[in-house]
Amino acid sequence: MILVTGGTGLVGSHLLFHLAQQGEKIVAIHRKKSSIEAVKHVFSYYTDNYTQLFSSITWMEADITNVPALTKAFKNITYVYHCAALISFSHKDYKKMRKINIEGTANIVNLCIVNQIRKLCFVSSVAAVGKPITGKNITENNEWNVADNNYGYAITKYGAEIEVWRASQENIDVVVVNPGVILGAGFWQSGSGKLFDKIYNGFPFYTNGVTGFVNVVDVVKAMTQLMQGQIKNERFILVSDNTSFKEVFFSIADALGKKRPYIKSNKLLGALAWRFGWLLSRITRTDPLISKQSVKSSQNHYHYSNMKIKEAINFQFTPLKETIHNVCADYLKDK
Ligand SMILES: NC(=O)c1ccc[n+]([C@@H]2O[C@H](COP(=O)([O-])OP(=O)(O)OC[C@H]3O[C@@H](n4cnc5c(N)ncnc54)[C@H](OP(=O)(O)O)[C@@H]3O)[C@@H](O)[C@H]2O)c1
Repeated sequence: MILVTGGTGLVGSHLLFHLAQQGEKIVAIHRKKSSIEAVKHVFSYYTDNYTQLFSSITWMEADITNVPALTKAFKNITYVYHCAALISFSHKDYKKMRKINIEGTANIVNLCIVNQIRKLCFVSSVAAVGKPITGKNITENNEWNVADNNYGYAITKYGAEIEVWRASQENIDVVVVNPGVILGAGFWQSGSGKLFDKIYNGFPFYTNGVTGFVNVVDVVKAMTQLMQGQIKNERFILVSDNTSFKEVFFSIADALGKKRPYIKSNKLLGALAWRFGWLLSRITRTDPLISKQSVKSSQNHYHYSNMKIKEAINFQFTPLKETIHNVCADYLKDK
């Protein structure tokens, strides 16, 4: 039986659909306030006959920081996909991210060891891969350097990976995937989904910063292929294209039939924007739309190599243009 964490999020919900479609027996954990209805909605993007597939999943309430609840969820589990995490660019979430991302992963790893599970797949991030050596593509071998100005989320994903490598030392087979920015349907008010909603509503800014992007369907395909194959104790960058935010934002605007963002954000404008966003969030008591870290990240020029996964399992990525076209079509269906 398979255990999935983070099944109510972007990656986890698409993963649940793929596993359910393969006829797997699945236990998915959720928190008290998680929206399981949102997962059903993700299933509906794939097929009209999703009710039966959806009802094949056993849902159990367990926070990954709650060991007794998690222990119950591990009963009869042989394979684990660990997707749950807190993703935030906000400094105020750092302690919470350490608790969920590092301690939560340590709990998962400990239970994998105690229950002698056969294989663990962990969703890490390109954020946990070392910074680039000038002029070169970033690969799985780029070394993490504590002297680099790493931000909170990256530190906690790197810390979580260390816990996962501990599992491999304890004879648990593990595979780690390090996706770039994941684009996929659903969850339009959080994570990368917000990008589609913002651009639909006339978000005016873009930057020339470059990073790696990947389709959520490719992420879950790579995860299931790696879990079902012989490869173990390796990490794989998952990025289909290294592209500028400008190109991505423009393509999204075009596919949604909306005005392209028209103000190029440079370092100065970005610095003003995050300070203004911070002030506004204090007044309105909401999370800031733009943070100092998100502004900084959007100015970087990072290029990632996807050669390792291509060569290891002959993996083919969906071209970014096609991904944007498909995700925008689902966004418009939901409007
Ligand atoms: N999205 C990206 O662009 C991206 C890129 C690279 C890597 N990743 C990694 O991919 C994974 C999945 O990301 P995502 O985009 O699917 O994130 P997401 O949509 O924000 O979903 C996060 C999931 O984690 C669950 N979760 C959070 N804290 C938890 C806790 N304490 N106990 C149990 N479950 C908890 C959430 O449950 P609730 O529904 O209860 O909140 C949700 O199911 C993460 O590990 C993330 O670091 C994401």
